Amino acid sequence: MEPIEWNPNFSVGVPSMDRQHLTIVTLINELIGSPDLEADTDALHLALDQLTRYSEDHFLAEEALLEGTGYPELLRQKEEHREFRRRIALLCHDTALGKPGGLNRLLTFLKDWWTHHILVEDMRYRPYFENQELSP
Ligand SMILES: [Fe+2]
Repeated sequence: MEPIEWNPNFSVGVPSMDRQHLTIVTLINELIGSPDLEADTDALHLALDQLTRYSEDHFLAEEALLEGTGYPELLRQKEEHREFRRRIALLCHDTALGKPGGLNRLLTFLKDWWTHHILVEDMRYRPYFENQELSP
């Protein structure tokens, strides 16, 4: 599987969010670049745990930022984040059970979801911060 290729189009115009998104992309790429991980259950669980914890911290930071600046589409963001939590929990569960193809489905989901989320959903707040010059 090809890694996510970070490029300037991923910038949502808020440096703190860009840094966190880059960390998430890096963690996903590390998983994609570790083909032996499926056989090393402990290392796999550790990596998935790290990624889901970091994602959760990021969601809370992003929601707090958007809430604090009165962003009008906060609920849409929160709903997206909820959907991620729901789906990642199911996929991690399948992977932990050792279901065939589980890790591949999980990595495909992570890659597709985060690429779409940053480029489409998070990008919706870029003009909001540009217009208000609220960017922290
Ligand atoms: Fe988001």
